[in-house]
Amino acid sequence: LFTAVEMAPRDPILGLNEQFNADTNPNKVNLGVGVYYDDNGKLPLLACVQAAEKLMMESPKARGYLPIDGIAAYDAAVKSLVFGADSEPVKSGRVATAQGIGGTGGLKIGADFLKKLLPTAKVLISDPSWENHRALFTQAGFVVETHPYYDAAKRGVNFEGMLAALNAAEAGTIVVLHACCHNPTGYDITAAQWDEVIAVVKARKLTPFLDMAYQGFGHGIKEDGAVVGKFVAAGLCFFVSTSFSKSFSLYGERVGALSVLCENKEEADRVLSNLKLVIRANYSNPQIHGGTVVATVLNTPALRAQWEQELTEMRVRIKAMRQKLVDGLKAAGVKQDMSFITTQIGMFSYSGLNKDQMVRLRSEFGIYGTDTGRMCVAALNSKNIDYVCASIAKVI
Ligand code: LMR
Repeated sequence: LFTAVEMAPRDPILGLNEQFNADTNPNKVNLGVGVYYDDNGKLPLLACVQAAEKLMMESPKARGYLPIDGIAAYDAAVKSLVFGADSEPVKSGRVATAQGIGGTGGLKIGADFLKKLLPTAKVLISDPSWENHRALFTQAGFVVETHPYYDAAKRGVNFEGMLAALNAAEAGTIVVLHACCHNPTGYDITAAQWDEVIAVVKARKLTPFLDMAYQGFGHGIKEDGAVVGKFVAAGLCFFVSTSFSKSFSLYGERVGALSVLCENKEEADRVLSNLKLVIRANYSNPQIHGGTVVATVLNTPALRAQWEQELTEMRVRIKAMRQKLVDGLKAAGVKQDMSFITTQIGMFSYSGLNKDQMVRLRSEFGIYGTDTGRMCVAALNSKNIDYVCASIAKVI
């Protein structure tokens, strides 16, 4: 039965974890996957999460099936976080939200629903984009193409190229846009550029799909979510997938969501009924634990304040490590100007290193980043920074 099955390639991101775990180098550093580690190199278990779990333990609950679209209090908390508790879309009930298995799950629910809704549409992702965007939408049956995004010479965004590609896209084309903290480059477009993108999306009748996996890691929760408000203000209907993997350090709990902004409540009810069909046929219904933790934190004012504080600490530490990386590379003898690292935002730095250099970093120094030169600066700390800088200096 399986004789013709060929070995599939290792996942470009999660596959690095396997390689990293098997590496015996005592100095190894994992800058591959997008995961935040604290200054001691430890994966944090947030105090707000522990407090919520304590509350949950104090009144233990039996584990029946959740509704197909997840925990009602969780979905409500997601809507409030993404659109604003007092926003018109939330108040009028025109957002359809379903709990998803991580942000990837949110994307998948949206992709499968869109395949039924717009079967012949193409999908446009940025060049480059998160490695899994292409795979996920291709698997859902779409032809996936790219629009220009990263400009290596400029160390920034080729905005004119991006806008021209969106302008040339056929009506209905699904455009996957990173709401904040662009993965993998770390370069976001400005607020004014978002206005231009939104105007084109509207004029060309494109289908916007926002991926917001890093809310809070750029400039702040509100600031990073501002793009959503811009799409609402433009009167557009759109998709937005969200994740609590990073912002709650709940990677393994797989807590995310898909929200779809519709014209009105009646339409949102119809859309939600169809999202439920997709979910039921994929994995039936989501799991309880992570969603309950997040809902408890977001719906309990003291815990929510604690979460915002802890998220701020993560964001501030990442920013400090960016500066340390720039300074450390200079001190290690790197001649070229690396200050672009501090103009990037979020967990990642597109370092500009090529595949050969990244492979050398891995094989000679045990430093893992993706072949494309992406490094997770959220995994740098005061103990590994000098080693990382010295190693990069050697391969440049
Ligand atoms: C990443 O880009 O490293 C993260 O989003 C983790 C993943 O699932 O790829």
